[in-house]
Amino acid sequence: MHIPASRLLSLLLIPPVLGGVLTWSALSAWAADGAAQVPAALLTPARTAGEAPAMEDLPFYRPELAGRYGACQAAHPDWTAARSVLWVNMGLDHPFYTGTDTVEQPDSLTVLVNKYRLLPADYAPQVESVGASYGSGSLRPQAAAAFRAMADAARADGISLRSVSAYRSYARQESTYNRWLSQDSQASVDTYSARPGASEHQTGLALDINVASLKAHFEDTPAYAWLAEHCAEYGFILRYPQGKEHITGYQFEPWHYRYVGVEVAQVCMDRGLTLEEYFALRPAQEEEPEAAPEAADPEPAQTESAAPAQPVAPDPQPDPDLPMI
Ligand code: DAL
Ligand code: ZN
Repeated sequence: MHIPASRLLSLLLIPPVLGGVLTWSALSAWAADGAAQVPAALLTPARTAGEAPAMEDLPFYRPELAGRYGACQAAHPDWTAARSVLWVNMGLDHPFYTGTDTVEQPDSLTVLVNKYRLLPADYAPQVESVGASYGSGSLRPQAAAAFRAMADAARADGISLRSVSAYRSYARQESTYNRWLSQDSQASVDTYSARPGASEHQTGLALDINVASLKAHFEDTPAYAWLAEHCAEYGFILRYPQGKEHITGYQFEPWHYRYVGVEVAQVCMDRGLTLEEYFALRPAQEEEPEAAPEAADPEPAQTESAAPAQPVAPDPQPDPDLPMI
């Protein structure tokens, strides 16, 4: 499209039409060289143009992290302020497993457990069996009920969803991680197995569905496609997605789902956010999730095999033929 100089001048006076795609300096350069060849895509309304906000004006800016934000900006001068702030909010300016914190509210249904936020070794939630017809393992009651409801809905669509690993104690995770270490380098193991205290399986809110193997290519199955479409309706998120390895610290795990409640799950799944990004984007005063009582979340549909809550189930012995990831 050829735009005469007079028309270009009027475009310069209505920057919102051009949106955030063009900068004022780019437009000025066009005007100056008289080429005025503006791609059609740039003329569609887009985000409002404007100066990038200062760090302090970002809703997720945390004053106590100002020094780390500054260091991050200095190390990455080409990054926007928002990118640096989010990066530091997620702790990514430190190597994984350094500067770790102990999770203060491990019973929260939205608890964030990762390579910076570890569970106490003695934390053991109250869990119940998912029920024999739903696979093996135990989960916290809210997550177990949500999983049964999800598996029932999937079954009605001709999809089988079975738990192959759910709650794992600190000690169980320790033996699992150490078993991998006996076969593989630590740098490699850390990309697929959590160190003790860092596994979501210890929360009783996470489970592996159908497979737990990097070689299984669960992502190519109808069950994975069903989960991608429906898991958030039952309060689950795909916890370690493809393309977010630098944030989660883990390879893509298409089988690992985490119960966070419907509200948070829908935000994460609809917007493609990891739980790390979800919390990094929250205003500073909301950073630490409230401890959510079991009854606070919408109750998923009851199923015929719902089992009553019971004290921590004894750890099942690892099956040597079925390596746990
Ligand atoms: N495989 C996941 C990351 C775990 O070990 O908890
Ligand atoms: Zn898992």
